[in-house]
Amino acid sequence: MRFTIAIDGPAAAGKGTISKAVAAHYGFAHLDTGLLYRAVGARTLDGTDPIEAAKALTADDLDAGNLRTPEVAQAASKVAVIGEVRAALVDFQRAFARRAGGAVLDGRDIGTVICPNADAKLFVTASADVRAERRYLELVGKGTEIDRETVLADVKERDARDMERAEAPLKPADDAVLIDTSDLAIQEAIAAAVAAIDKLSPAE
Ligand code: DC
Repeated sequence: MRFTIAIDGPAAAGKGTISKAVAAHYGFAHLDTGLLYRAVGARTLDGTDPIEAAKALTADDLDAGNLRTPEVAQAASKVAVIGEVRAALVDFQRAFARRAGGAVLDGRDIGTVICPNADAKLFVTASADVRAERRYLELVGKGTEIDRETVLADVKERDARDMERAEAPLKPADDAVLIDTSDLAIQEAIAAAVAAIDKLSPAE
């Protein structure tokens, strides 16, 4: 069976957790496309050209242990404005989306650019304050020394760059189902996502 689920939204809205849970629920493979941009961004920190890094990217690069830091997130958001970087990553994402057995892809432009014909599209969002608080707790939980103001400023800066870029800006696809997780516990958000997808999928 081929079934593609596109899940987009801003940083720390709960996309990652929801995508993993949705993939597990349906037995589909999951690709966190942010990792592609993070892997390219991480390479640029040691001076590598972002377009060359994107062209040379392999699946192994996504396993690097240091991709979840705020520094790499900012670098990812910066390389993500470059059209040639995005173009170099398209084929990998589309091939993943077409894999037999079903696929969930999460990112910023999955429903709009990468998989405009996805079988189900969700746009997961939450207020900037709620997202910043979640990211703050996550970072502190990992032992990162950081304050709330820095995390909020970081989230807002990344939102602005992701939404205002010319190439594949972050926005909901016209046919995406919106899920605002600001007031939802994680299990409620997952249940809302599964309910929305069940409604869109043909009877099994
Ligand atoms: O989802 P994330 O926080 O890991 O993404 C890191 C950055 O990568 C994000 O700020 C913008 C970019 N990105 C993108 O432009 N398109 C995607 N499909 C996924 C991520």
